[in-house]
Amino acid sequence: MQPVYWTTQTIANLPLETSWLSPEEQTTLSSLRFPKRRNDWLLGRWTAKYLLRLVVETCKNCSPSAITIQRTESGAPAVLLNNLPVPGTLTLSHREELGCAAWISDPSLRIGIDLEAIETKPRSFISDYFTPAEIQLVQSLTPAQFPLAASLLWSAKEAVLKALGVGLSIDTRQVEIHCPSFSIPDDWQPLIITQCPLESSTEQALWWRTIKGELVTLAILGDEAKMLSIEYRTSMDLD
Ligand SMILES: CC(C)(COP(=O)(O)OP(=O)(O)OC[C@H]1O[C@@H](n2cnc3c(N)ncnc32)[C@H](O)[C@@H]1OP(=O)(O)O)[C@@H](O)C(=O)NCCC(=O)NCCS
Repeated sequence: MQPVYWTTQTIANLPLETSWLSPEEQTTLSSLRFPKRRNDWLLGRWTAKYLLRLVVETCKNCSPSAITIQRTESGAPAVLLNNLPVPGTLTLSHREELGCAAWISDPSLRIGIDLEAIETKPRSFISDYFTPAEIQLVQSLTPAQFPLAASLLWSAKEAVLKALGVGLSIDTRQVEIHCPSFSIPDDWQPLIITQCPLESSTEQALWWRTIKGELVTLAILGDEAKMLSIEYRTSMDLD
């Protein structure tokens, strides 16, 4: 069984020029007006291509400009190599100076990754977007635990919504998350999806950890999702 591969890149890793983009991506870039959106978009694509060239056999020796990270109708990314689809699922997230991407080659599984800062959220945000059980959970914690708990549950919802391919097009209260412990882990720790719409698979796995002080959540949907290992990949592993 193939693992879920993931990686991170920072804005400092981003090349200054854009020759690594495919012609289709160059066109998309020229339509992005706002510097923040351009930077986020570039960092997401750079991180995704960095990962694909490390873990996908057909992408290993190819030029990054031969790969296109296409935005599908839902907003979810799809991978093309020389304009042909690469089977598997890519998911990505970008936040400030950090990008992360994950890839799974098994087409029967779907994944979603999300990066989130640990920061306090307004009470109105919690009441609008969290389920009664999630509200009860965050309210039962000490004020010091609140930013982590609120950010983690929110990030986990976004990861599940990405794995479902719907993003924020559905009510976030349709997905419900439970977290057994709010101590920051050194490695991936499980979360529990207590409610998940649109999902018929027998298994759903949800993990969290931190990287460079940011929260990362990873949702895996599909049979045998709980059996999968999660492997970090960087070019240093190849040395
Ligand atoms: C998907 C969503 C949960 C993203 O969360 P976020 O915290 O805002 O942003 P992140 O950096 O974590 O993730 C963004 C990435 O999620 C991916 N994504 C977007 N919609 C997705 C979907 N329906 N399913 C899976 N992944 C999706 C994209 O790869 C996107 O990056 P890109 O636009 O640079 O290609 C949410 O923003 C959403 O539903 N967006 C849809 C609306 C939209 O696309 N607006 C336009 C943005 S300019």
